[in-house]
Amino acid sequence: MKIVVVGASRGLGKSLSAMLVEGGHQVVEGHRVILGGETNQTQVDCDNRVVKEGGRIPLQMDVTNEKQMQEAAEKIKNAMETIDVVVHVAGVLLPSDRTDTLMTEPIADIEEQFHVNALGLLISFRSLYPIIKKGGRFIAVTSEGGSFALEGELFPAYGISKTAANKIVQVLRKTVTDIDIIAVHPGRMNTEMGKATAQIETIEAARGFVQIIEGNRVWDTKKDWFIDYQGQSMKL
Ligand SMILES: NC(=O)c1ccc[n+]([C@@H]2O[C@H](COP(=O)([O-])OP(=O)(O)OC[C@H]3O[C@@H](n4cnc5c(N)ncnc54)[C@H](OP(=O)(O)O)[C@@H]3O)[C@@H](O)[C@H]2O)c1
Repeated sequence: MKIVVVGASRGLGKSLSAMLVEGGHQVVEGHRVILGGETNQTQVDCDNRVVKEGGRIPLQMDVTNEKQMQEAAEKIKNAMETIDVVVHVAGVLLPSDRTDTLMTEPIADIEEQFHVNALGLLISFRSLYPIIKKGGRFIAVTSEGGSFALEGELFPAYGISKTAANKIVQVLRKTVTDIDIIAVHPGRMNTEMGKATAQIETIEAARGFVQIIEGNRVWDTKKDWFIDYQGQSMKL
């Protein structure tokens, strides 16, 4: 399959991309920053449509930069015409959100998390949807932290932004009906972001995502559009 992983530089995105490539998929990796910029090889691969089987193409994709996201989509289109699946992994949880409350956290920090986690998801969807094949899928990695069912004040701005991300998925599902759009909680993973509450390694979450991507998890997607990495229904 032809798959785009947005936010692939570390954590879940990195593990998932590596696992997909190992499984023989063609993977475009979206990176917020590519050290040294996109390589010449990336340009050659994209411009000359010579994406190798099992290839891995890094592209600059900052989800807060709509122009950059649209340019990346154009490059992917030139190389692959259409893609089967997008996994939007990119997300941020700022240090102040671990220590402050909604009463004290700098507004700029709340805004940044909302920008990346909620608006970034929408920008990513609007940029990449035109190149997803009919019947394809867009997977938004959101979080249990966005659920009303989970009361508490841990990571408050992050939680609000992930609630918005879930709502964006819900609304988009009504707006765009020729692909499947789902939200997935990836589990509490041992990453830079999740180390304080971790229960699993990214490799375990990535295995679950591969099962979902390859169609080995079957569930009623019309009813359950917010699930966890094991395909279990999540409360909103
Ligand atoms: N870890 C958990 O326990 C947990 C639980 C629930 C949900 N999640 C969600 O799962 C996803 C992956 O989490 P993780 O733990 O793997 O996080 P992570 O290790 O902190 O990695 C976050 C990834 O998002 C990328 N990113 C951040 N801002 C971006 C931007 N503006 N444009 C493009 N990419 C951007 C980062 O790129 P850079 O390296 O360039 O910063 C990095 O690749 C996130 O959406 C997170 O909210 C995680």
